[in-house]
Amino acid sequence: MIPVLTIDGPSGVGKGTVANIVAAKLKWHILDSGAIYRAFALAAFKRNIQIENTHQLLELASNLDLKFAQNSANNALGVYLDNQEVSSELRTEKTAELASKFAMIGQLRESLLIRQQDFRQLPGLVADGRDMGTVVFKDAPYKVFLTANAEERAKRRLKQLQQRGIAGNISHTLEDVKKRDERDVSRKHSPLKPSKEALIIDTSDLTVSEVVTKVMALVKV
Ligand code: DC
Repeated sequence: MIPVLTIDGPSGVGKGTVANIVAAKLKWHILDSGAIYRAFALAAFKRNIQIENTHQLLELASNLDLKFAQNSANNALGVYLDNQEVSSELRTEKTAELASKFAMIGQLRESLLIRQQDFRQLPGLVADGRDMGTVVFKDAPYKVFLTANAEERAKRRLKQLQQRGIAGNISHTLEDVKKRDERDVSRKHSPLKPSKEALIIDTSDLTVSEVVTKVMALVKV
């Protein structure tokens, strides 16, 4: 069986950072499932498809031309939609909010399921998202759920945005983080919640490397 480490948690908790470091250490593949929802949201927005138009949304989901590939200019893993790199467009709060709204649609989640499960390849996969341990890779042998208080997560999110040259302020970011959490936690389909088997780590007062150490201690390879 191909091993999977799932890392779930709310926005701004540092899942992506931890997932990337751990995947590099293990030399495993990585799945940023949020990027799939964000890319879908961006594609729907560009085509002006409204959230009520389930038929067109499902058609888009099954035809979505989405690839993850190394960008030769900066060596980072880029996201390509219709063969155009959209990595920075994906990171805006506007795209995040739209992604969280589309992510409420159960049929849409189902149609994006196989696309995510296809990332499970040897020698292993680190998958970050909201429902990796509860739905997409239910049988994963290693499951982690990261939490942190909303203020700390807003601070981290703001720092991340600023590093990318995107302006923002703490009160708006805190509001965005809380709004998105509320939607992700309370939705009917695959809500954000820890899997029963997950190791829950409160990262509020931990450094990235402390979190990485705890996660690495879980994985036996
Ligand atoms: O992890 P992220 O911030 O890039 O995710 C953006 C949105 O996508 C998030 O608010 C909800 C949705 N999402 C989801 O519903 N399920 C996932 N596994 C990952 C993301």
